[in-house]
Amino acid sequence: MKTALELIREEILSLTPYIPGKHIKAVEAELGITGIIKMASNENPLGPSPKALEAAINAMRESNFYPDPDCTYLRDALSERLGISREQLVFGNGAHELIFLIAATYIDKGDEAVIPEPTFGEYAAAVKLNGGVVKSVPLVNFTLDLEACLAAISKKTKLVFICNPNNPTGTLLDAKVLRNFMERVPGHVLVIYDEAYREYIDDPDYPDGVEWVKQGKNVLVLRTFSKAYSLAGLRVGYGIGRDDLIDYVGRVRQVFNVDSIAQAAAVASLGDVEYIRDSIEQNRQGREYLYRALDGMHLDYVPTEANFLLVNIRGDSKQVFQELMKEGVIVRPAFIFGLPNYLRVSIGTPEQNRKFIRALGKVMAMLNYDRYVAAGK
Ligand SMILES: Cc1ncc(COP(=O)(O)O)c(C=O)c1O
Repeated sequence: MKTALELIREEILSLTPYIPGKHIKAVEAELGITGIIKMASNENPLGPSPKALEAAINAMRESNFYPDPDCTYLRDALSERLGISREQLVFGNGAHELIFLIAATYIDKGDEAVIPEPTFGEYAAAVKLNGGVVKSVPLVNFTLDLEACLAAISKKTKLVFICNPNNPTGTLLDAKVLRNFMERVPGHVLVIYDEAYREYIDDPDYPDGVEWVKQGKNVLVLRTFSKAYSLAGLRVGYGIGRDDLIDYVGRVRQVFNVDSIAQAAAVASLGDVEYIRDSIEQNRQGREYLYRALDGMHLDYVPTEANFLLVNIRGDSKQVFQELMKEGVIVRPAFIFGLPNYLRVSIGTPEQNRKFIRALGKVMAMLNYDRYVAAGK
């Protein structure tokens, strides 16, 4: 007789648990301190737009009703904004859920997916959950290597995941290289083009995934309200693609996957253009401040096009992460992405950025890492 443990699917047994950014409340309870700041999950430090808050509170009053399964208002607003049909949109409980829906739609046992490494970890998790095989393609100089991605495509490949700007590196693909890749991807492969951090890209003429959808390319574009739109806790993401593909991905989802409060807040956020502009500007200023401060500390970093920054602390990221936590700052130790000497820090408010820099200086000195740095090692 088999035990309940032995009945678990093989794919599940081989999954490694997701390591999320630590939650403030959990760290405060663990260390017995208060006033901790979290710069670990690439959230928007400004908090939600006041308009989104108001809409969420109003929607709460009607939470005796099930949510609108079609996300009608959000669908209307986005289809108008993006110049696409309503049928070209699918909504998810964050882009996170859409990644799993897409994998469930496409990946069968033994199917391959090409995934750069390191990138957002949920792509590989979703592929493996469905019995797929991950073909990892290492980054070159912290940037996706699209030639190597093309070379990794075989007859068994169904999906290629492109995260741009890439998480955790913050790097953006050269526009020409990206366009060339999109022209050359074989017809039997679907590109999952994740634009979670699109709003932070400085160049307004940078290629837009939606254009490829409009051209009828084999692409599904992912976007989210969790980053520039500051609604990570409400969980709203969306996929954009050809209506026939979107139809099938939509069949996999739970019918009430986006709750009514989230839908209302997302519509209101979309309309709050000023808030989005301010939050992007604050991110830009925060990034410049961090660059200057890190230059002053002779620390290298990977220039970013997103709302987070990889910093080379030339030491053990796990240890620095632990010590920073004691100083009241939660960051992401990048050993979890295979970068043991790096921290990934989300860009915060001016005050949070200063607190991070002060704490980092203190921890580096305590661990004597600043000596390495001064010696240019
Ligand atoms: C590249 C990328 N895609 C998708 C997501 C998931 O976003 P959501 O909060 O919409 O699930 C994240 C979250 O950090 C991300 O970094």
